[in-house]
Amino acid sequence: MRYGHFDDEAREYVITTPRTPYPWINYLGSEDFFSLLSHTGGGYSFYRDAKMRRLTRYRYNNIPTDEGGRYFYVHDGGDVWTPGWLPVKAELDHYEARHGLGYSRITGERNGLRVETLFFVPLGETAEVQHVTLTNTSDAEKTVSLFSFVEFCLWNAQDDQTNYQRNLSLAEVEVELDGPHGSAIFHKTEYRERRDHYAVYGVNTRADGFDTDRDSFTGPYNGLGEAAVPHAGKATGSVASGWYPIGSHQVDVTLAPGESRSLTYVLGYVENPHDEKWAPADEAAGVPAMQRVNRERAHALLSRFATTEQTLAAFEALRTSWTDLLSTYSVTSTDEKLDRMVNIWNQYQCMVTFNMSRSASYFETGIGRGMGFRDSNQDLLGFVHLVPERARQRIIDIASTQFADGSAYHQYQPLTKRGNNDIGSGFNDDPLWLILGVAAYVKETGDWAVLDEPVPFDNEPGSEVPLFEHLTRSFRFTVENRGPHGLPLIGRADWNDCLNLNCFSTEPGESFQTTENQAGGVAESVFIAAMFVHIGPEYAELAERRGLADVAAEARAAVEDMRTAVLEHGWDGEWFLRAYDFYGNPVGTDAKPEGKIWIEPQGFAVMAGIGVDASDPASPASPAVRALDSVHEHLATPHGMVLQWPAYTSYQVELGEVSTYPPGYKENGGIFCHNNPWVIIGETVLGRGERAFDYYRRITPAYREDISDVHRLEPYVYAQMIAGKEAVRHGEAKNSWLTGTAAWNFVAVSQYLLGVRPEHDGLVVDPQIGPDVPSFTVTRVARGARYEIAVTNAGAPGARGRLVVDGVPVEGSTVPYAPAGTTVRVEVTV
Ligand code: GLC
Ligand code: GLC
Repeated sequence: MRYGHFDDEAREYVITTPRTPYPWINYLGSEDFFSLLSHTGGGYSFYRDAKMRRLTRYRYNNIPTDEGGRYFYVHDGGDVWTPGWLPVKAELDHYEARHGLGYSRITGERNGLRVETLFFVPLGETAEVQHVTLTNTSDAEKTVSLFSFVEFCLWNAQDDQTNYQRNLSLAEVEVELDGPHGSAIFHKTEYRERRDHYAVYGVNTRADGFDTDRDSFTGPYNGLGEAAVPHAGKATGSVASGWYPIGSHQVDVTLAPGESRSLTYVLGYVENPHDEKWAPADEAAGVPAMQRVNRERAHALLSRFATTEQTLAAFEALRTSWTDLLSTYSVTSTDEKLDRMVNIWNQYQCMVTFNMSRSASYFETGIGRGMGFRDSNQDLLGFVHLVPERARQRIIDIASTQFADGSAYHQYQPLTKRGNNDIGSGFNDDPLWLILGVAAYVKETGDWAVLDEPVPFDNEPGSEVPLFEHLTRSFRFTVENRGPHGLPLIGRADWNDCLNLNCFSTEPGESFQTTENQAGGVAESVFIAAMFVHIGPEYAELAERRGLADVAAEARAAVEDMRTAVLEHGWDGEWFLRAYDFYGNPVGTDAKPEGKIWIEPQGFAVMAGIGVDASDPASPASPAVRALDSVHEHLATPHGMVLQWPAYTSYQVELGEVSTYPPGYKENGGIFCHNNPWVIIGETVLGRGERAFDYYRRITPAYREDISDVHRLEPYVYAQMIAGKEAVRHGEAKNSWLTGTAAWNFVAVSQYLLGVRPEHDGLVVDPQIGPDVPSFTVTRVARGARYEIAVTNAGAPGARGRLVVDGVPVEGSTVPYAPAGTTVRVEVTV
């Protein structure tokens, strides 16, 4: 069952009923100001940091879910309704929400009045614009009142939901009815002392009334759906003093039949220089010194959206910037679902993970995790082609949180960029991800100078070494931290945060990762070993190209040692082991009743080429083929591949958090979508494109649109997890938007299925998508040149493409980089 449809031309998902199984959201903003916006208008806004600078309030865990956002109430001759359906829930004659790239448009119609609101964050602004158009679709004149509504958060989102004894006495606002560009409400809580910023909520007309005190607006004991003011049809003019500050304007509108009127609301963040905080005293106007906020910057902001023409021009600029951004990689194929995921939604989600990391979604509260070391490096793989300069800065920020011994802070704070001491380090996969991220950046850009960039350890001034030295420390960290089988020590966890082999936790509330109650942990990770074999050669390659032939040779030898160790000690018989636990017992073995086979080492080992028979990659005798066939047999389901099987049915203290989830959820037998693309890529390594593409379609949202009632989350973005085969709700997704799934699936589909990937000397073109996509064209812009790659694809197993570059047949699969500004035509026959 569906709840809408894709509009590929407009690059929008169109939701046609407000009764989706869960709030389906979008993100506005790509620089400093961000909003989360659901299809009914729910969500919140913040400036840069979702914890420290939250403009509007949002209640997670609310009943009903997703009540709270920006709302417009219509009072039409006693009938009260909200065009986004919530919170009033009056039936609508027509409803539609269109989520686009950085904007959404929500339309509701009732009793001959249509109200359409376009929400977006304009480029270069620290504000959300809400452009409301009311149209009288009846054949009689109509007079209605429109009441806007936002609830202000007292800035620090954590404090805001905990410290009521103080907070309920703090709120302060100012109201300006006759401003230069209409009416405005200023939220200035804590401005009198340590804050130099305030929020403004304005409308580009003189309002007919206002409210700024929540209880006056709702009336005592009412929910937002029953709010007293819109039902009475009359604002009360309340001025908040303590309690709960809100911003609401009343605007009365009379429309002839067929007539429309637009209003522009702006919710903005304004910061003043400390010595320009206050408006000068003005005795005549009754303004004492240091009491009224300096409104100049707010007025300047509102002046830029004073007319509909200005607002729509800003909207066009936003649309154009997305068109430009997405032109770097696009495909036209025989499969429209593939095209829309590759061209629009997957890349869009990658940009959202760039902006948000794991901070704010409907599953992340914006007050919890900072930026993850491993997560950020992997996210980079999905956006490096879109915003290479910003990727460069991100790399430097990440590397600056590394320690001199090569280990790294697991997380860091986006505003201070400092490592997070509560979590510290000890996640032994972290260092290697840095090499992968940097290599991807260099391949994309050819910017070798980045490797000479001075980068500190732990942000300590004076400790700077060239970035390349950081990679060396990362590489050595793995070499130097190995256990009894020559495999890497796992530390607190590797990629799987919940496989905690050196911490035996029995107390509720204890951290599974950071509780130190087991000294001398020698648990080893086959997964990190596979990572090392996959990523180590990237390091060797960079070294070699920097003229360090010895370093490269030594690195390659270390990689070969590791490969041997994996085949000798990391092989169970039909698949790769997952780990050795604290006692030296294998994890992920057929010898155990549960957790027999785990997905992560299978995918990564085959990606790395471990156990691949180079002369016959599909050879059934090779460990690689046996491992992936075992995945197919034990882990694959119609909804994707589960993380391990059988899931644990009881708590295994020596394994940690992984066994705390009920079977089938999260890391305990859930379909953890982040790791599925490793198997997909692994299948392409074996030349089994058909199976790879089949796996891709099982988890990719556009292909799941028809089962939206089962999947339940947005059909346009990946979720972190889909409940596994042993779960009560198999096929149900959770934790959409902020997940490494976005980057890895983009890598899988763009670089391996469609097969166009940047290497150091050129674009490799090696499609492995099987017979279901008989022809396609990829347009790729790389290092300033444009490549038009037309593929005719029979997709036979093991077949590799033959390339004709600008009319000339070439050997192999590399198209050398062409000068910037040129266009290269590539014809490929598979
Ligand atoms: C979460 C974490 C990520 C981890 C994964 C598996 O997505 O953000 O760092 O690798 O879970 O545990
Ligand atoms: C929990 C989750 C895991 C996530 C981690 C982040 O362990 O199960 O997915 O990576 O928290 O700290």
